[in-house]
Amino acid sequence: MDHAKRDPISGQLTTGHEWNGIEELDTPIPRVVLFFLAATTLFAVIYWLLMPAWPLGWTYTKGLLGINQREVVTQQVRDAAAGRTIWTNRVANASYAEIAADPALMTHVRDSGRTLFGDNCAVCHGSEGKGGPGFPNLATGSWLWGGSPEVIAETIRVGINGTSKQTRAAQMIAFGSVLDREQLSNVATFVLSLSGQKLAATELARLPAGKEVFAASCVACHGQDGKGKQDLGAPDLTDANWIYGGDPQSVMNSVLYGRQGQMPSWESRLSPTDIKVLALYAASLQGAGR
Ligand code: HEC
Ligand code: HEC
Repeated sequence: MDHAKRDPISGQLTTGHEWNGIEELDTPIPRVVLFFLAATTLFAVIYWLLMPAWPLGWTYTKGLLGINQREVVTQQVRDAAAGRTIWTNRVANASYAEIAADPALMTHVRDSGRTLFGDNCAVCHGSEGKGGPGFPNLATGSWLWGGSPEVIAETIRVGINGTSKQTRAAQMIAFGSVLDREQLSNVATFVLSLSGQKLAATELARLPAGKEVFAASCVACHGQDGKGKQDLGAPDLTDANWIYGGDPQSVMNSVLYGRQGQMPSWESRLSPTDIKVLALYAASLQGAGR
């Protein structure tokens, strides 16, 4: 081993190791590496001393700071629950108008309402409440029973055509055996005209007769002007919102076979506060539009 040997090109000392004529330069480890090695080792030792670190069979080194993450999490959960209780209590005790006038409270209501709606209502009404065939869109501002939070809460509580004793009841009668074919075609065409749909000349000719049938058979529930009656849960036929469809075939089917949608009662499944939150949430959907 020739320790003193110098590399002729770089002029640096070699370690004396040699492989097939290739010699290793004696380059020291860079200081920065040593520095970080020392710094991280020091950090690790200090951290072991301060924080919970080493397992010791049944227990562990607790650390000088005495931090216990289980307690930290438990405390956070307790704080969150306390925070929730504060606002749920306010929702439970305040009137709908008071809650709606409190922006901070409404933020909680909307957050929690969205979750409750997703868990319980979205299967039928869609995640944004926009409904689908057979399930009403709750975001149009056009309501079967009324769109104030009080009325919506009652709808949610008792359901529609459901099994609860207090359920709201509404039925679109089947006119298939009450009216003849002509009358059915005429009144269905008249219904299409109510929402301003374009009609062919042959259809326009049916309108006067259709209007007569409507006046005789339909106004009791849908109103003189066809705008519906909320105390009967009968829909407005003059707007573009349809539960079952506004095309000629769907309207004809509604009149021929009748309709009776079912909305479950939630009284036994949701707390009064949850129903209140959902009613405020559903009421806030209107204006979100279609
Ligand atoms: C099993 C399906 C189903 C579920 C689940 C459901 N609904 Fe309904 N809901 C309906 C149907 C169907 C109607 C319309 C009934 C009718 O045609 O008369 C309706 C009607 C309503 C109405 C009346 C709308 C109006 O125009 O007056 C409201 C409000 C409502 N639902 C809210 C909710 C809320 C809130 C939930 C969740 C707690 C919910 N629904 C869950 C099927 C459902
Ligand atoms: C006894 C009350 C009642 C009478 C009478 C009645 N309707 Fe209805 N109608 C309803 C109710 C309630 C609904 C909603 C049914 C549901 O969603 O469950 C409805 C729904 C409809 C729909 C479906 C609306 C949609 O959004 O899809 C059409 C169309 C309709 N009625 C047309 C008529 C016509 C035409 C007549 C007369 C020939 C008539 N109705 C008579 C109560 C009535």
